[in-house]
Amino acid sequence: MDKVALLKQKSAEALKGGGEKRIESQHKKGKLTARERLQLLLDEGSFEEVGMLVTHRSRDFGMEKEVYLGDGVVTGYGTIHGRLVYVFSQDFTVFGGSLSETHAEKICKIMDLAIQNGAPVIGLNDSGGARIQEGVVSLGGYADIFHRNVKASGVIPQLSAIMGPCAGGAVYSPAITDFIMMVENTSYMFVTGPNVVKTVTHETVTSEELGGAQTHASKSGVTHFACANEVECIEYLKSLLSYIPQNCEEDAPVYPYEMGNELRAKLNTLIPENPNQPYDMKEVIEELVDADSFLEVHKNYAENIVVGFARIAGRSIGIVANQPAALAGVLDINSSKKGARFTRFCDAFNIPLLVLVDVPGFLPGTDQEWNGIITNGAKLLYALSEATVPKITVITRKAYGGAYDVMNSKHIGADLNYAWPTAEIAVMGAKGAAEIIFKKEIAEAADHDAKWKEKEMEYMEKFANPYGAAARGFIDEVILPEQTREKLIRAFKMLENKVVNMPKRKHGNIPL
Ligand code: HXC
Repeated sequence: MDKVALLKQKSAEALKGGGEKRIESQHKKGKLTARERLQLLLDEGSFEEVGMLVTHRSRDFGMEKEVYLGDGVVTGYGTIHGRLVYVFSQDFTVFGGSLSETHAEKICKIMDLAIQNGAPVIGLNDSGGARIQEGVVSLGGYADIFHRNVKASGVIPQLSAIMGPCAGGAVYSPAITDFIMMVENTSYMFVTGPNVVKTVTHETVTSEELGGAQTHASKSGVTHFACANEVECIEYLKSLLSYIPQNCEEDAPVYPYEMGNELRAKLNTLIPENPNQPYDMKEVIEELVDADSFLEVHKNYAENIVVGFARIAGRSIGIVANQPAALAGVLDINSSKKGARFTRFCDAFNIPLLVLVDVPGFLPGTDQEWNGIITNGAKLLYALSEATVPKITVITRKAYGGAYDVMNSKHIGADLNYAWPTAEIAVMGAKGAAEIIFKKEIAEAADHDAKWKEKEMEYMEKFANPYGAAARGFIDEVILPEQTREKLIRAFKMLENKVVNMPKRKHGNIPL
């Protein structure tokens, strides 16, 4: 055969993956193929494939006769909105996207290039796990990938989309990456599937219940985004990338922005008169950031804290905010973990942090104590404390007890701390405080309740405001809510060249 014709024939064969029938079956399940996904993800015509002609080396179980060019994963590089990314996309039509020695080598090659050249890696996962015919070489291949995931962590952004099965030890590669997206009804992740669960714990559970997108988006927090379909999932990947830099030494892209009237009068009326009444912190966020720029992460998990990316005057920021509309915005185990992980991502990738505070304290109870609110709460404290990116705090209402310290207080290194006139900064709520410090007077009073109320008011008068903290410089300025956006724009600009020199160490030891 003519040499050019041979090349063309091989390319055409590789493009077919596992063949028409299997592609049809993939479509019937509501799934796209590995190549169709890349087509949607990358800028038109930008994809350069690497390793199209790679084949497996297995000679057992008749595998020598079953050879597919590319070996079940499409790898390469391309651009998204003009920015370089490295990609791998598992092809379920070839041995169910299962991971062979060579399949793993292809992924590793792409990851090495991404690390060396400082650009994100995006993995589109759709795989039946270890290539069963290969045994330990497949397991070794997984470990080679895990090792690179760890090496790349904090160096380049790593994004994972789960678009089919992802089970067994295979889950640990996405788990180490920075963000996971899952597609509802067609993807699942679990360490052991429903059959093993049934045998071991006698629980009957479907794949979707055990490890589907909704489960991991709300119950476990394993996935950061649950997407209605693959197209939406790919849109989320692209959108997420727009907020983050190429690597840890660069800054996120800056979008053009022209200053106008930055006063936001709506903020003046968002806090209810009654301090025990909830309000939606996301409404505050919407007023503070550029129009439609807020991308919420972990939307349905630990809803008492809100985290996500936004732009302020065109620049990326990460937001960590207590949410009074869920559990009164209290900090608990899950919200602390969620806030800490997000904070660490932002810090690793030079994304300034805005922390919005309305927190009554930590959640009491045996469940919290026995499951380690001490260790887990410390994660958020540690993460915010170690972050060296610009850090700004706005206390909208409550900042009580240890949670005041944790939520990016001046004491743990915040650069600027603002408070609204509605801020209450104290060791604890006035009612509880009065009960403890005026115990004797309340007990001796003819009307206990009236005395208690009187003392509660006295405590509130003294501490339920931002002025004690402002007098000590713990709050830099008490500002009108409507001014907040303008203040933030100026402050983040002022902090854009921030440099912090840390003492030499190998790495810190965050309480895990
Ligand atoms: C080789 C595999 C495979 C695998 C699927 N196939 N999984 N080939 N190794 N792990 C092949 C099938 O033989 C079939 O080939 C094709 O892929 C599609 O599979 P189906 O079963 O027809 O598809 P479906 O009904 O959609 O079911 C998908 C599935 C199922 C749920 C993933 O295939 C399955 O249970 N596979 C085995 C999963 C597994 O046990 N993997 C090992 C886990 S241990 P044909 O030729 O018919 O198209 C593991 C450890 C990792 O992964 C450890 C890392 C540290």
